[in-house]
Amino acid sequence: MLLERCGADPDDAEAAAAALDQAPPDLLEELYRTIESDMGGLKWLQWPKPPPEQPLAGLYPLLSAVPLMDAFHRERGLDRAASDLVLADIGEKLRLNRRMHGGAGLDVAGWFTGHLRGSLYQLGRLQFCVEGAESKPLLGMHIRGEGGPLSPEAVADSVSQAVEFFPRVFPERFAGREAPTFTCTSWLLDPQLRDWLPERSNILRFASLFDLVGPASQPGTNGHEDVWRFAFAAVPATPAADLPEDNTLQRSLLKGIRAGVEWQVPMGVLALDRL
Ligand SMILES: CC(C)(COP(=O)(O)OP(=O)(O)OC[C@H]1O[C@@H](n2cnc3c(N)ncnc32)[C@H](O)[C@@H]1OP(=O)(O)O)[C@@H](O)C(=O)NCCC(=O)NCCS
Repeated sequence: MLLERCGADPDDAEAAAAALDQAPPDLLEELYRTIESDMGGLKWLQWPKPPPEQPLAGLYPLLSAVPLMDAFHRERGLDRAASDLVLADIGEKLRLNRRMHGGAGLDVAGWFTGHLRGSLYQLGRLQFCVEGAESKPLLGMHIRGEGGPLSPEAVADSVSQAVEFFPRVFPERFAGREAPTFTCTSWLLDPQLRDWLPERSNILRFASLFDLVGPASQPGTNGHEDVWRFAFAAVPATPAADLPEDNTLQRSLLKGIRAGVEWQVPMGVLALDRL
């Protein structure tokens, strides 16, 4: 039932139910407690990668924490539909894992601790995560793969929803202040993409809304991994010759890959006046 709420495919839901008995209970308990003890905390928690023979190990503590998230949302006046929108990312990433690894798994389970702890919300096309210090409210922008094109209209709509949502839902942090700073750390903002993607691309139009700050690539990021994962649904070891060339984005990126581009993951600050 929980996986149905997450919009999981039946294959993934069945595999998760079947593997539950084999999941190490101590690890599940430990990971669950990290959520329970930090409801409303910022960003997401760094969880260990699941053991290779247990690719779903991180899923169970997340599902166990759904009642905690629901209670947190209801206290803040958010309805069940808002909670389900947040959970839908889990179904999406199970699908992505199946495409990448050929079976059920959740390789980035720690990412969802932002979802379950009540820090991340889906507003229109984009997700927003409460990330900054209390004195300097900051919202991280995240982009799911499912949900349609990243059109400028969809982006403007999401940001305007966020400008209204956060002061209402988290008044102690966002009310009575200027609009929060919106940031995005993503391969989508790599300026090198301008050399390869067509000018009309939504990715380039999205990137043009940001001023880049900090190093060319943020510490702890990996442009190669992200491009392989998000644009090709491929594991990082996949040779370029084996990557799919099914659409304009993939064909354009492959030209760059063959030319030896090393993809970056910069951070940008959204220029609200460019929306
Ligand atoms: C970000 C995203 C929504 C942009 O999609 P978009 O609005 O269609 O972007 P563009 O206009 O630049 O590109 C259009 C082309 O990309 C293709 N495309 C869109 N999403 C794609 C994806 N996830 N994987 C591969 N190709 C994709 C489209 O089919 C289109 O090609 P076509 O005209 O030949 O059909 C899309 O790249 C995506 O889903 N990425 C995965 C999520 C992601 O990267 N999030 C950021 C994580 S840090």
